[in-house]
Amino acid sequence: MPKRVKTAPASDEAPEELDEATAEASDDAATAGGYTNSNLSAARAAKNDEFYTLWADIEREMNAYLEYDADVFRDKTILLPCDDPEWSNFAKFFALHFTDYGIKKLISTSYAPDSKPATITYQPTLFESQDPKFDETKTRSHGKKFTLTAEDINNDGVVNIDDLQWEYLDGDGDFRSDEVTALRDEADIVITNPPFSLFREFISWLVEGEVKFSIVGSSNAVTTKDLFALIKGNKLWKGATANNTDMVFGVPKGTTVKEADKAKAKRLGYPSDDDYDYTRLGNSCWFTNIDHGRRHEALQLMTMADNRKYSKHADVKSIGYRQMDNYDAIEVPYTDAIPSDYTGVMGVPISFLDKYNPDQFEIVSLTQTWSDESTKTYPTQTLVSPDGSRKTVGALNSGPAFKVATPPKGVAYYEVKGEDEKTPPSYYISAYKRILIRRKGAK
Ligand SMILES: C[S@@+](CC[C@H](N)C(=O)[O-])C[C@H]1O[C@@H](n2cnc3c(N)ncnc32)[C@H](O)[C@@H]1O
Repeated sequence: MPKRVKTAPASDEAPEELDEATAEASDDAATAGGYTNSNLSAARAAKNDEFYTLWADIEREMNAYLEYDADVFRDKTILLPCDDPEWSNFAKFFALHFTDYGIKKLISTSYAPDSKPATITYQPTLFESQDPKFDETKTRSHGKKFTLTAEDINNDGVVNIDDLQWEYLDGDGDFRSDEVTALRDEADIVITNPPFSLFREFISWLVEGEVKFSIVGSSNAVTTKDLFALIKGNKLWKGATANNTDMVFGVPKGTTVKEADKAKAKRLGYPSDDDYDYTRLGNSCWFTNIDHGRRHEALQLMTMADNRKYSKHADVKSIGYRQMDNYDAIEVPYTDAIPSDYTGVMGVPISFLDKYNPDQFEIVSLTQTWSDESTKTYPTQTLVSPDGSRKTVGALNSGPAFKVATPPKGVAYYEVKGEDEKTPPSYYISAYKRILIRRKGAK
């Protein structure tokens, strides 16, 4: 099948952070830390959604599902929305494995070129333009639907991508349209890398459709209220692969990519080629509700006493596990320092989710302003920076807080006025957002 070469305006920046959810979550963090992140806002405004997933990333993740359940795709209808088999690795991958995975039906839908803000030049492929179904009035404004069933249409003895049937959709292929939503309802499993700018909407669309899914997104999105509720309810979890490692993506030729990212993608085996430039994104990961073995592996942990003695983290040995002032929880700054014998609530790093085993721990909450676990709301505070500058903020309520007897030196701290003139102020330091967890069955 011929490849389509796509180009994008040079002004389109490949965002470091991807989606609306990411930007929102990080904006929160930025406020709490007293800085702003213009990259994120720029990314959100630019709505650059053209990042193409690599075959190797798809293969690694799907293999993890297959290792856990060899029949995970058998007799299933799989929908690949926000895609395009004329160039997408998702369609090529599942078409290649159509028979050995025992897939019943593969459907892929593409988004109309005219609806893509980043596309400046578009030419239909020979596959489309030489087909009798080609329609010049629809090629730019309509999405397409590609279907593969167990029918060897071209009689070459195998069912593969050459047996795809295609037609124009009535609309532009927006996943929210009635026609693509009807395909979601027909499907057992939805797999894609959705538009980054509509990530949260895409998740809601999946949840509403009650389908199994596996999608690429940004790990920063986990601290948003709606996504966190799904994670807490065990309705969505991290995928088995690409956690804590860069994911490389193809981008349309001409997209502005930071030199450092281009160089890193190249080092990882993806130099620019005739069709694409490449970039890397450190926060990308898979989100799924398909089971895999990694989430059933238990973390091997030491007791609290042993951590205090033998931890590889100097601060665990010297400071230990501090009690949070605004949550009934202890601070555990590293996932591998979670004490195996503690039965109360523990605040652990967000990256804990990469190792989360629901048989070992339960998720209680997140240290966020909307958490129903916080035991205190602080009045407006003064953030005192290490250089002595002062700013009125409310950020202490958006994360864990630790009371200190005197203003600390060399770090930012918060000053909260006493209730009246005679009461002295209190001082606090804060930490990163934490996920509150409890050992399973320890209540
Ligand atoms: C992150 S890219 C991934 C493309 C492909 N699935 C892949 O992984 O290689 C998301 C794609 O969704 C398309 N898109 C943007 N908004 C969309 C919408 N509302 N409905 C369907 N597709 C959309 C974009 O044009 C883009 O090609």
